[in-house]
Amino acid sequence: MGRTYDAVNLKLIKKGAEAWIYLAEWHGREVVIKRRLPKSYRIPELDEQIRIHRTIREPQLMHEAKKAGVPTPTIYFVDVKEATIIMERVEGEQVKLLLDLIPDEEKLKICYEIGMLIGKLHRNGIIHGDLTTSNMIQNLYGKIFFIDFGLGEKTHEVEARGVDLHLMRRALNSSHFSYAKECFDAIIKGYSNVLGDAAAGEVMEKIKEIERRGRYVTERKSKNQA
Ligand SMILES: Nc1ncnc2c1ncn2[C@@H]1O[C@H](COP(=O)(O)OP(=O)(O)OP(=O)(O)O)[C@@H](O)[C@H]1O
Ligand SMILES: [Mg+2]
Repeated sequence: MGRTYDAVNLKLIKKGAEAWIYLAEWHGREVVIKRRLPKSYRIPELDEQIRIHRTIREPQLMHEAKKAGVPTPTIYFVDVKEATIIMERVEGEQVKLLLDLIPDEEKLKICYEIGMLIGKLHRNGIIHGDLTTSNMIQNLYGKIFFIDFGLGEKTHEVEARGVDLHLMRRALNSSHFSYAKECFDAIIKGYSNVLGDAAAGEVMEKIKEIERRGRYVTERKSKNQA
């Protein structure tokens, strides 16, 4: 890493799809340093814009989510030019790993809680943009934190809410196939609890529409290839 910002004991823990994640100590705190690296397949100017945009947006949305009652890591420092964020390290277990380790009843409780948290985001006009169980961490006290808001946006549109939940469903299907349906149902229950049945029903209709559109595109693609 270029600059280290007085951080010590840096340990690279993850080379994610878009960023490198380091654990470190920074002014006596345990922190995570997230650094978005240039992508060689993008035009350099555009690449820099994207990285800068996401580096600014991620902390903003995390802060707003926290105000909306959704736990997120506290942001300590942002270096826009270097596309680097220093934030609180949430010690705990990734929900993706956790779900496979616990009894069914516990799984449903956690999914219900996740649904309430998504409901709180949407009620406040925050779209996460990448709802997957690897972007959620349960801390040592059982609180669920949402991370990775770089693809998020601010809107109250039903379409955006539908896409957000559709991505959540797809993530459950691909990472937790054997209990994905039960988990998604529990998420929707939690979501309805926060947003009310009418608003939740409207989003469910939107999800169905999005999934019909998706199937239509897939069918057309396979017909064209045949
Ligand atoms: N504040 C944090 N506290 C603890 N762990 C974190 C924190 N931020 C990120 N991580 C860990 O690093 C992983 C990658 O972080 P993040 O999702 O923000 O980056 P990404 O590049 O989008 O990665 P991915 O492609 O996996 O989504 C997370 O799944 C999580 O395990
Ligand atoms: Mg992620």
